[in-house]
Amino acid sequence: MKRVAILISGGGSNMLRLVEDMIGDHPARPVLVASNDPHAAGLEKAEARGIATAAVDHRDFPRDRAGFEAALLRPLLAAKPDIICLAGFMRILTPEFVSRFSGRMLNIHPSLLPKYQGLDTHARAIAAGDAEAGATVHEVTPELDSGPILGQVRVPVLPGDTPQALAARVLEQEHRLYPAVLRRFAAGDRTPLML
Ligand code: GAR
Repeated sequence: MKRVAILISGGGSNMLRLVEDMIGDHPARPVLVASNDPHAAGLEKAEARGIATAAVDHRDFPRDRAGFEAALLRPLLAAKPDIICLAGFMRILTPEFVSRFSGRMLNIHPSLLPKYQGLDTHARAIAAGDAEAGATVHEVTPELDSGPILGQVRVPVLPGDTPQALAARVLEQEHRLYPAVLRRFAAGDRTPLML
């Protein structure tokens, strides 16, 4: 069984989908849900499912990314994860942190990478007049939102779409994509899954 730690910053809906999928013949199990925000709603949801949680408030480390990461590493390393899933984790990680988990850290990003790295992906897709938006699961490498693509799901942009409406439609599909990719990844399959 592979051990999976999940990092979140907010509601944790992707985290929950990953957790709910890790049962039965799934090759992995959740061992920790950690957040940079002690008030992240996802933490309670993980606790309610009996999963160990940790919170390291990044605001306790002003202008000290290395200090924040050192504090986050403590519970993370104690959980001995084989795989780390970023699921709505909204802090940029240093190359040193990322390198430590090279080849075993995944992220979900709400765009069809390589388009729209960074923030405000849906507003940018709408402003560009794109016919399609979507989400990508990729390996995390030191350069932001740039690692090898492990899976993508495409979602049509509809006439009159607002960033909020599009985000909600994409999020539903993220919930299909991320568990499917993690299941394959934990079994050693890194071929991109195109939904
Ligand atoms: C998701 O849409 C995820 O793709 C996005 O944050 C949301 C988290 O929702 N991630 C990023 O923007 C990463 N840069 P959730 O907390 O309900 O899973």
